[in-house]
Amino acid sequence: MFSCKVARYKSQIFSNLKEKKANKILEIGIGTGPNLSYYGSNPDVQVVGIDPNPEMEKYARSSAASAGLPLSNFEFIHAVGEVIPLSDNSVDAVVGTLVLCSVKDVDMTLKEVRRVLRPGGVYLFVEHVAAKDGTFLRLLQKILDPLQQTLADGCHLSRETGDSITRAGFSSVELDMAFLSNATFVNPHAYGIAYQ
Ligand SMILES: C[S@@+](CC[C@H](N)C(=O)[O-])C[C@H]1O[C@@H](n2cnc3c(N)ncnc32)[C@H](O)[C@@H]1O
Repeated sequence: MFSCKVARYKSQIFSNLKEKKANKILEIGIGTGPNLSYYGSNPDVQVVGIDPNPEMEKYARSSAASAGLPLSNFEFIHAVGEVIPLSDNSVDAVVGTLVLCSVKDVDMTLKEVRRVLRPGGVYLFVEHVAAKDGTFLRLLQKILDPLQQTLADGCHLSRETGDSITRAGFSSVELDMAFLSNATFVNPHAYGIAYQ
């Protein structure tokens, strides 16, 4: 159920890459590379994945190979979203899924995303965010947040990441929300597309 619903809204937002002819893609916090299967069918795609955890490189490379992405079309760089090692206006699309919960500085990361995106480029995102103020879930997230940060590698439960994306200065943002029944307190999820 969890993966089914995620796959549905990922398919929805990732279809924008083809429509916008996005051939140069940066993925921030690429992890093991679960999104690489969405790019493999484009023979012209060049993907750069960044992640501060060097352990992720071998998994991401293996996912790239499984996705049919030639290794010459995929580069893994050991780096953080707050300091992206790419030039200004250099990519057609930035992808980030379940990563702004873990970065040290959300606003700085979004500033970097905008810096590297070319004019007209797109930022595709899927992020779990804080529940509505005043709800029991929000209270639970507040209580569990310190433990979650310790156990889940710096992941924050109470970030209002959808608002941060909306305020980051993109020319427009299309944002939807989803509640994943199997994700318990790691809910809701904000997903969508922001236009540079
Ligand atoms: C929950 S995982 C998500 C991985 C992948 N994007 C996915 O959807 O499965 C979070 C990833 O963010 C990475 N990360 C943590 N801090 C980061 C930062 N400051 N900049 C970029 N990535 C970061 C972690 O190493 C990890 O691979």
